[in-house]
Amino acid sequence: MPDGGQSVLDVRDLVTVFRTRGGEVHAVNSVSFHLQNGELLGVVGESGSGKSVTMMSLIGLLPSPPADVRGGEVWLGGRDILKISADALRDLRGAKVGFVFQDPMTSLNPVFTVGAQIMEPLIRHMGLSKAQARVRAAELLELVGISDAKNRLSAYPHQFSGGMRQRVMIAIALACDPDVLIADEPTTALDVTIQAQILELVKDLRAKLGMAIIWITHDLGVIAGIADRVMVMYAGQVVEQAPVKELFANPQHPYTRALLKTIPAISGPRQDRLQVIEGQPPILAARPSACSFRARCPHAFDRCHAENPVRRAVDANPVGRGHDVACHWSAGHFDA
Ligand SMILES: Nc1ncnc2c1ncn2[C@@H]1O[C@H](COP(=O)(O)OP(=O)(O)OP(=O)(O)O)[C@@H](O)[C@H]1O
Ligand SMILES: [Mg+2]
Repeated sequence: MPDGGQSVLDVRDLVTVFRTRGGEVHAVNSVSFHLQNGELLGVVGESGSGKSVTMMSLIGLLPSPPADVRGGEVWLGGRDILKISADALRDLRGAKVGFVFQDPMTSLNPVFTVGAQIMEPLIRHMGLSKAQARVRAAELLELVGISDAKNRLSAYPHQFSGGMRQRVMIAIALACDPDVLIADEPTTALDVTIQAQILELVKDLRAKLGMAIIWITHDLGVIAGIADRVMVMYAGQVVEQAPVKELFANPQHPYTRALLKTIPAISGPRQDRLQVIEGQPPILAARPSACSFRARCPHAFDRCHAENPVRRAVDANPVGRGHDVACHWSAGHFDA
């Protein structure tokens, strides 16, 4: 393993392109990150920044075509899983990585009971008998805060509320006691109260079970409350990465700074409460050859139009281990 085995997951230079009728979409452009044992990594960025596609490509969940994972290494359990067969990957994924999808309405199968869907990975990956799987499925439902679990196993997804379906998704993701839980936060499907409850549940589960978690969200405010480290994505790239306190205290990238301004301040006058970042994200028709944020950046200068900035360390740690940023401007402007 490249870093001597301390990471549960180590992603290097991941590149994913979609081939569409309108041409290529360069959705993930050389993304690198790692995840330590028991750590919670927050991933933030606007809609379309590549958060979901990054996570889905690294565990082979995107249909090909149209997706083409064109390059990179993904080290999990001592192996580069981009180099193993589809069958081996399916087994490894089921056993080591739990994935909670962004849309809980479509990711459960409407024709099978909730119980059958939780039991399936237990039978397939953990080798449990049907009877054992049923007992374990009820325990898992209870673990995610669904009461009367035994009786609810025979319910169908449509009989559950959106929040409960999200809990079922988490139960399925946890079924095989994964090393890594990837949770893609539902953005529109659930109201904020339920999102907050799910967040509490995940915090609680992490304390109980100790797995590493990747939490994907639009909202830096959510990240502040739960993450150890944060990775900020823009146009399919990691533009800044830092321990959570450091990122909030000392944001370097103009995009991160803009995102921080979008966190609503409850105490502020109403019209100042929410700022959105002006302008549109770029169309990802080619590999970036200049800074992808330049058109929206108040600080862009010549070099930003000529050269795509690479990630460089902001502190004394190597890139990916401490605070790093991909920005030409921030180099000389730490106090701006
Ligand atoms: N099947 C597809 N075909 C073509 N392009 C796609 C496909 N799926 C995703 N993309 C593109 O890949 C880019 C990254 O999308 P992704 O879904 O990862 O964004 P995201 O950061 O998860 O956004 P959101 O916060 O809205 O979930 C976007 O430009 C999107 O349009
Ligand atoms: Mg997404």
